[in-house]
Amino acid sequence: MTAALTRPGPSAGTSGSGHDGRAGYREYGDQFAAFYDAVFPREAIGTDELAWLRQVLPGRTRRLAELGVGTGRVALPLAGSLLRDEDGPVEYLGVDVSAAMLGELGSHDPRGLVSPLLADITDVTLPTGLDAVLCVCGTLSMITEPRGQAAAVAAAAAALRPGGVLVVETHHADAVLALHPTADRSWAVAYPGDRRMLATFSHLDGRRWDLEHCWLDAGTATFARESSRVTSLDEVDAYATAAGLVPAGRSAGLRGAPLTPASPTATAVYRRPGPPPPEPDQEG
Ligand SMILES: C[S@@+](CC[C@H](N)C(=O)[O-])C[C@H]1O[C@@H](n2cnc3c(N)ncnc32)[C@H](O)[C@@H]1O
Repeated sequence: MTAALTRPGPSAGTSGSGHDGRAGYREYGDQFAAFYDAVFPREAIGTDELAWLRQVLPGRTRRLAELGVGTGRVALPLAGSLLRDEDGPVEYLGVDVSAAMLGELGSHDPRGLVSPLLADITDVTLPTGLDAVLCVCGTLSMITEPRGQAAAVAAAAAALRPGGVLVVETHHADAVLALHPTADRSWAVAYPGDRRMLATFSHLDGRRWDLEHCWLDAGTATFARESSRVTSLDEVDAYATAAGLVPAGRSAGLRGAPLTPASPTATAVYRRPGPPPPEPDQEG
């Protein structure tokens, strides 16, 4: 998932500019909704990713939420997979601060698998009793203040039932740091198709990571930028344990691969302690 290191971000434009114009997560979707699916192809969530997610989520997961659901790249195949269990309806709440991203989600969800919620995950009250919450593809690191990151994790924790699971995937902090022997780096990633490439200018200042991108596609160019806070899994662990969750494993990406220094993303699973509610057929 090399693209995760080159993930585009907020405040789009048609000309370049310097590092002073930093991009907040509220503007991300307006810039990226139109070409997000090209940079993060939906096909990247395949059978291996779904199998791993199904393995770490509680058995009979029916009620879940995704924080920063975006265009539904993960939500739509996961909700579809759960529904195929024929174990009753699936409630999948997709939270995002971007109406543009939720619009893309809606246009790819004719069956209404995901219920969109336009909200900021640093200040959201989720339904309670959820089996699982996901916050993947670096969404948490788009929140550039630790207090906001902790608030998002706390909201997820408060929504989980006992035995419920939180999955957080962030940029892999070690890989981001290794990518920057100097503060300024640039690279370009070619994509399959007709003259498609993502060129990126990166600037790392302590934990502050600013990226400017140019997406080239068949003779067109779109400029976009984003900012992130380089966030380690140790920090996510601290947010999660403060919110009453217990760490339940680390890996890379969304297919359970071992975490290595070069892994572009790092993933942690947390569990809310306590006995799960009884299965319906066990109720007396
Ligand atoms: C990199 S995309 C990931 C989308 C999706 N989870 C995926 O895996 O493709 C991050 C998404 O999180 C949303 N987002 C970022 N910060 C947010 C916040 N504070 N509240 C709600 N949504 C946020 C963005 O609008 C964007 O749609």
